Amino acid sequence: MREHVQQITPEQLTEQAQFSKLVQGHGKRPQSYYIVTYGCQMNAHDSETLAGTLRGMGLEQAPTREQADLVLFNTCCIRDNAERRALGNITWLKEIKRDRPHMLIGVCGCMMQQQGMAEKVLRQYPFVDIAFGTGNLYRLPEYLYLTIEEGRRVIDVSKEESTIAEGLPVHRDSPFKAYVSIMFGCDNYCSYCIVPYVRGRERSRRAADILREAEALVADGVQEITLLGQNVNSYGHDLHEISFAQLLRRLEDTGIRRLRFMTSHPKDLSDELIEEMARNRALAPHLHLPVQAGSDRILTAMNRRYTVREYLEKVRKLRNAVPEIGLTTDLIVAFPGETEEDFAQTMALVEQVRYDSAFTFIYSPRTGTKAASLPGALPAEVATERIERLIALQEKMTAQVLQNLVGRQMGILTEGQSTRRKSQMTGKCGRNISVNYTGGRSDHVGQIVPVYITGTGSNTLRGEYREDISHE
Ligand code: SAH
Ligand code: SF4
Ligand code: F3S
Repeated sequence: MREHVQQITPEQLTEQAQFSKLVQGHGKRPQSYYIVTYGCQMNAHDSETLAGTLRGMGLEQAPTREQADLVLFNTCCIRDNAERRALGNITWLKEIKRDRPHMLIGVCGCMMQQQGMAEKVLRQYPFVDIAFGTGNLYRLPEYLYLTIEEGRRVIDVSKEESTIAEGLPVHRDSPFKAYVSIMFGCDNYCSYCIVPYVRGRERSRRAADILREAEALVADGVQEITLLGQNVNSYGHDLHEISFAQLLRRLEDTGIRRLRFMTSHPKDLSDELIEEMARNRALAPHLHLPVQAGSDRILTAMNRRYTVREYLEKVRKLRNAVPEIGLTTDLIVAFPGETEEDFAQTMALVEQVRYDSAFTFIYSPRTGTKAASLPGALPAEVATERIERLIALQEKMTAQVLQNLVGRQMGILTEGQSTRRKSQMTGKCGRNISVNYTGGRSDHVGQIVPVYITGTGSNTLRGEYREDISHE
């Protein structure tokens, strides 16, 4: 089952460690870095690894990208606008580089894995010094060395992106919240989606490696771990070690206070996992369960492999098992051939499920995917009009959901001072909703503290810190 997965060998990692030392001692090495990240949590976490790798070579983070000696763009290509934004910003930096010729520019991430992109960068972006794909991230020390020592451009996008590299240094953005990847890639081939083409085949990390990382994080004072994968519900299907539910149980034993995971594909949401969600005390009462559309016809065309009825049945089971659970979702409007009736079914589903919040997207054709060749593209005005209706409906639902939470007692993982009202603290409840609260103290930062919910804002809750209440 696992032949296609290439574990990066200890020898390969040692080789990179040697390059890292060479860069560190090099007279021409960049002193500072700045990473611009687009896309999902997986990219955000990859950027933490890039930062860890650069720090290992002695670089420090620059206050702005304009001041940095090395700027890395970690790109996303999920939709056309993500790609255009990245390319626009890379081009803009060309002007800055004119005044600061020693500046190095690197481009990596999903966009680079797209067919023809390496050639395009070579030709059209001559000021880009380093470009590499998602599977080559661990080789950054080598690329940087070749660039500064030999003064040449390094463009390396491997065809074989289905690798796993263990033990890379990570510089976490937060001291009390951490991402842990449990799997990489995706085999689902939803007809609209580019991810399987740019992130490679689905592959799981070994449970022992994940647990070791989680234990180290807990020992380091981390309160919340978010497990990452494009389809975490199929964790371990390639390994035959333990199931995702069993992994969650082992993770609870590490003593982590709060555990989240994303993303769950509805077709792989098992009864075993629902039972585990009810039982596991570390698991936050939140599930991101992308539905994409409320019409069976469109779901089939999307190759999602569940019906609206099956989805709603899973939602019912989840709410039975975990009554306080908050659900969030992703929705695509204007998929090729979407009729007004199909769209009305999406609206009806949103009204029925009552999500805490939803990410809404206009369908964007991606070259190489099946949906890109489907007939029935919708005019931009229709797409815009539909997404506006959908957003308005979800806002109404969010307001109702938040209102129903007034009067609850919740544990809030405090992140810092509220930006708008400095006297208040802000953090996230188990359902991942932002809560601004009074009566907080600076020593609450990084702690889960009891808060009584007194009111709502738009997309947020308001509350007050009460030492004497129980929560969760
Ligand atoms: N693996 C996750 C999602 C990853 S992409 C999952 O299956 O849920 C995040 C979201 O982007 C998707 O859920 C989908 O709603 C949206 N998306 C993906 N491809 C898209 C496209 N071509 N056009 C518009 N939205 C898209
Ligand atoms: Fe894309 Fe579907 Fe895989 Fe999610 S499950 S990453 S939407 S192909
Ligand atoms: Fe984008 Fe890649 Fe994530 S395409 S959404 S950054 S997996």
